[in-house]
Amino acid sequence: MKSAILLAYFALPWAFATPQHAIDSPHWKPAGPNDFRGPCPMMNTLANHGYLPHDGKGLTKEVVTNALKSGLNFNTSLGNLMFEMAIVVNPEPNATFFTLDQLNRHNVLEHDASLSRSDAYFGNNHVFNQTIFDESRAYWTAPILDAKMLANSKIARQVSSRASNPNYTFTTKTEAFSVGEVSAPIIVFGDMDTGVVNRSLVEYFFENERLPTELGWTKKADPISLDKITQMSQLITNATSLLTGSVDIKALKVRDLHSGFIPHGEH
Ligand code: HEM
Ligand SMILES: *[C@@H]1O[C@H](CO)[C@@H](O)[C@H](O)[C@H]1NC(C)=O
Ligand SMILES: *[C@@H]1O[C@H](CO)[C@@H](O)[C@H](O)[C@H]1NC(C)=O
Ligand SMILES: *[C@@H]1O[C@H](CO)[C@@H](O)[C@H](O)[C@H]1NC(C)=O
Ligand SMILES: *[C@@H]1O[C@H](CO)[C@@H](O)[C@H](O)[C@H]1NC(C)=O
Ligand SMILES: *[C@@H]1O[C@H](CO)[C@@H](O)[C@H](O)[C@H]1NC(C)=O
Ligand SMILES: *[C@@H]1O[C@H](CO)[C@@H](O)[C@H](O)[C@H]1NC(C)=O
Repeated sequence: MKSAILLAYFALPWAFATPQHAIDSPHWKPAGPNDFRGPCPMMNTLANHGYLPHDGKGLTKEVVTNALKSGLNFNTSLGNLMFEMAIVVNPEPNATFFTLDQLNRHNVLEHDASLSRSDAYFGNNHVFNQTIFDESRAYWTAPILDAKMLANSKIARQVSSRASNPNYTFTTKTEAFSVGEVSAPIIVFGDMDTGVVNRSLVEYFFENERLPTELGWTKKADPISLDKITQMSQLITNATSLLTGSVDIKALKVRDLHSGFIPHGEH
């Protein structure tokens, strides 16, 4: 009898936690001094919950894909793809794993103008920074965030960084990653059909590196796949335009060629 209770206890340690934590964010524990963490609030969160190894090491394709599946219901194809994109952070040739601290390597995946981290130029590019996050949050002007508010915070951080960091770097590759990151809260915590997310959940996630289960969040019932990611990235990209009305990229390019310093009549 006693051993049955013990067995149940060790099999389900979260059963004795407060009920609201019992639902689907087991084992949350912040990083200890020997645990690796990085610039990604979600990878840190998954490690804090034990979906990823708590020490942030040995992140193989199987480990990452399973964590994204069990923690967030990302489908296996998407998980595999995300691993393939991430493995470049391990400088070893033909590496089969990466670690959370390898995500800190500047300008590999980590970049300037993050929503919640300072630029590498200022010393630390990976620890959550409340001052920086408050800069971003200033643009989250309603209890329900939409693509425009999220895009505003992204643009504002880029302007702030470009104005203060003489080494500001942000390539077209960075833009693609950045747009994906900024759309992530809608994908994981929000409503992808309407493109909105509850601000409280997003703030809780960033500030605690913990899934907002105690605020009522649960992972999506339907698996999240690449097509959803693409759609939400498109939503954010659209919202980053500072022009009003519909934006015709082709027309913009043509106008560029015919304006500027070229005197009229020479083209
Ligand atoms: C294999 C999986 C993943 C890898 C390797 C990864 C890697 C990274 C890296 C390197 C950054 C830092 C970029 C920067 O300098 O700002 C980052 C940021 C971010 N990631 Fe992830 N990530 C992964 C999955 C996810 C998922 C599933 C989410 C979903 C919520 C997510 C949400 C974010 C957010 C919101 C940021 C922006 C943080 C900020 O701007 O302060 N990531 N990620
Ligand atoms: C993931 O979802 C996509 C889009 O629905 C689908 O094409 C793909 O086969 C799925 N992958 C797996 C492993 O179920
Ligand atoms: C890495 O893989 C490539 C292609 O499979 C192979 O040619 C190369 O020898 C490998 N390098 C190392 C260091 O194992
Ligand atoms: C947060 O970022 C700001 C701006 O880069 C920096 O001055 C400050 O020292 C950082 N705070 C911490 C705790 O690292
Ligand atoms: C400075 O900028 C260069 C060129 O963009 C980049 O390769 C390097 O990583 C940057 N260093 C820091 C600390 O920002
Ligand atoms: C956002 O979520 C919090 C926490 O669950 C909840 O109290 C609040 O009512 C929600 N806000 C809106 C506008 O639905
Ligand atoms: C983004 O804008 C394009 C061009 O205006 C439009 O076709 C597309 O539907 C928009 N995508 C989203 C997700 O809003």
